[in-house]
Amino acid sequence: MTQEVNGKICNLGNVCDCVTVKDLDPCIIIIFGASGDLTTRKLIPALFRMWINNSLPDPVAIVGCARTEFSRSEFIAKIKKECMTCATVAESQWNDFAALLHYFQVEYDSLNSYLQLKMFLKDLGAAKGTHGNKLFDLAVPPHLYSIIADNIGQAGLAHQYKENNGWCRLVVEKPFGSDLYTSQELDKSLHRHFTEPQIFRIDHYLAKETVQNILMLRFANAIFEPLWNRSYIDYVGILAAEQIGIENRSGYYENSGVIRDMFQNHMLQLLSLIAMEPPSHFEAERVRDEKLKLFRSIRPFTEKQGDVVLGQYGPGIIGSEAIPGYLGEKGVAPDSLTPTFALLRFAIENWRWQGVPFYLVSGKRMKRKETRIVIQFKEVPHSLFRDVLKESVSANRLVLSIYPEEGITLSFQTKSPGASVCLRTMDMDFSYQESYKGVSLEAYEKVLLDCILGDHMLFWRQDGVEEAWSLLTPLLHSCERCENRAQKLHTYDAGSWGPDAAAGIIEKIIS
Ligand code: BG6
Repeated sequence: MTQEVNGKICNLGNVCDCVTVKDLDPCIIIIFGASGDLTTRKLIPALFRMWINNSLPDPVAIVGCARTEFSRSEFIAKIKKECMTCATVAESQWNDFAALLHYFQVEYDSLNSYLQLKMFLKDLGAAKGTHGNKLFDLAVPPHLYSIIADNIGQAGLAHQYKENNGWCRLVVEKPFGSDLYTSQELDKSLHRHFTEPQIFRIDHYLAKETVQNILMLRFANAIFEPLWNRSYIDYVGILAAEQIGIENRSGYYENSGVIRDMFQNHMLQLLSLIAMEPPSHFEAERVRDEKLKLFRSIRPFTEKQGDVVLGQYGPGIIGSEAIPGYLGEKGVAPDSLTPTFALLRFAIENWRWQGVPFYLVSGKRMKRKETRIVIQFKEVPHSLFRDVLKESVSANRLVLSIYPEEGITLSFQTKSPGASVCLRTMDMDFSYQESYKGVSLEAYEKVLLDCILGDHMLFWRQDGVEEAWSLLTPLLHSCERCENRAQKLHTYDAGSWGPDAAAGIIEKIIS
């Protein structure tokens, strides 16, 4: 479905009402790290698509800030190429969007730079009519978060609703520290000038459609929740397998490894959505309260439990390409013990989940990219077909697919047509791609939109961050400091499903 909105032709499909949002406050979006990859590849293209679909406020201005000495036109030329590949639009539409873009060169550690930026934003805001509303997005390496947040504050740019200021919000990306202590230090520094409601900590997994759908599936349907517990569920598997390696991020990854990179954030968020209790309202603080409660119910890891398999990819073949092992990647120490794969078995200590294992698996350079959540139900308590069929009846399974397909599949038993009694497993399928033909919001579009709306639902709250670190920091310390660290790290071939030690569990999740 196409529609003309504010003079622009938009392809809104049948989800028009879900994509466009009314009453967005006018604002200036200020992106620090504007010459970097995240801005060019993700943030500005997301803003461009939002603008095409009329989901940006009007008026709005976008200011890129970085150390690089760009003129405004150089900045615009740099990002044009990426934007034009992400949407099919006429040159005139690009020109209209480009008119929203500005560039301001800053020295991140110079207060004077921020004082000048303040004047620039004041004039821009007055010319555009953005009522002093400001969204600061820190698309910079994490070690700069404190410095930039501090200078924004010292320049008097973090105030909300004072001296004709509107709102002021700060967006940061993971990693939020590298353990409990550093995350608390980072938080203290952000809170010097910003209050908790002003801070938006992104987890892009929460903005994926299928992930957002988990709460709807659980709590907007009467048929699942009564079964969603230890009486009916055998185990839960959450898999985020990646085919890519560490790209050009060895500096970051060597210090991070898979547990910090994927588990402390994305994997724990998925776990919390599957396992949390129903909040009383679909409202950010109540949802985040329930997640926090869930994190607090997870049993701490102890070395003895044998609930952890760590791995590191060796050389292998993906497609027809020979892939070097992790140790052969540029920038990786030749004797590095950084894990690129982990299988963690979580136990949740509450009445609902007592005794149900939650297997969380993530790794780089695996056979294919696949992200899914498997809810494996128990077998029927008594099979009246056993004598006839001489086989056990497969248990039901609900699969929430996040990648490559986005959808939900419920498998169940049916009788095969014919004279003899045979059962076969059939799938009931719901596919996002097939059911919705219209425009949907990509993760960064959703995230930016929610920041503009001031909705914290899809963002981490600091108490959640700390709880997640409290849970994983002892595990990280024991993995990183134990004497037989090398023996505990299983090598797996690039292009495989991970180390042999994890094969049984992986099989349970991908089969
Ligand atoms: C990022 C990690 O947070 O998530 C990356 O830093 C990882 O290492 C990425 O590749 C995975 O995200 P997605 O959306 O591709 O599954």
